[in-house]
Amino acid sequence: MTAQLIDGKAIAAKFKADIRDQVESMVARGLRRPGLAVIMVGDNPASAVYVRNKRKACAESGLVSVAHDLPYSTTQAELVQLIESLNRDPAIDGILVQLPLPQHIEQSLIIEKIDPAKDVDGFHPFNVGRLALRVPLIRPCTPYGVTKLIDHVGISPKGRHCVVIGASNIVGRPMALELLLMGGTVTVCHRFTGDLAPYVRDADILIVAVGRPGIIQGDWVKPGSLVIDVGMNRAPDGKLVGDVDFEGASRRAAWITPVPGGVGPMTVAMLMKNTLESALTRLGA
Ligand code: GUN
Repeated sequence: MTAQLIDGKAIAAKFKADIRDQVESMVARGLRRPGLAVIMVGDNPASAVYVRNKRKACAESGLVSVAHDLPYSTTQAELVQLIESLNRDPAIDGILVQLPLPQHIEQSLIIEKIDPAKDVDGFHPFNVGRLALRVPLIRPCTPYGVTKLIDHVGISPKGRHCVVIGASNIVGRPMALELLLMGGTVTVCHRFTGDLAPYVRDADILIVAVGRPGIIQGDWVKPGSLVIDVGMNRAPDGKLVGDVDFEGASRRAAWITPVPGGVGPMTVAMLMKNTLESALTRLGA
């Protein structure tokens, strides 16, 4: 068997085109464009790439992006002050603080300062709680994007064993909540799990978000399964690679996402969608 590739880049482009149409129709009705504030503290090179992609996507989707590039030395109090002013800013619908933050800033405190209605990353405890309680409002972008890829393939998690590898706040945990909401039987593996192979062998839907190339061997993958690789790692030769042994897994899975061009573009598209929906709510449109 050779897996079918899931073209996240093309699927994300359709979402962005649809968002652009909706934004232009807002403008035609005399409404302002949705506004996204993107805050980056310091100069983490990986974060700089992600932030650049997010700002580029805003331009492509007709959204206004407002850049706040702050030095590494920014204090927690200064960052809180900026967030509070963006919370009050009527032209801003979304506030994104790129993570990780420098060590001297407490990440959870910052996330909790963002107005939940402008938390387009979906990381505020209010939004995570709403997802956990099956009444989602703003949903974390990467897991939300993965649900769209699953929908695209056309298989339902209902009654299937969904295995999530990685339990981070950004991907693994909210991913498990999304899969539960879709009716999946969900297992979450993490750093204390020990041997991953038996879980992977039983996974109808496998979602990997660890950040370690090759952590999932191709010959563990269940024949006919759906494999979604959220990993984004730089190989020694400079190429971007995921967490899954792509060649090996492709011989067994029915569908697989490539890296790059799989989950990454969907994360950004969902950020645009969250920002548009936040603006529509704010404008009563
Ligand atoms: N760092 C890695 N992924 C993300 C993300 O989706 N949002 C933010 N804000 N920071 C990140």
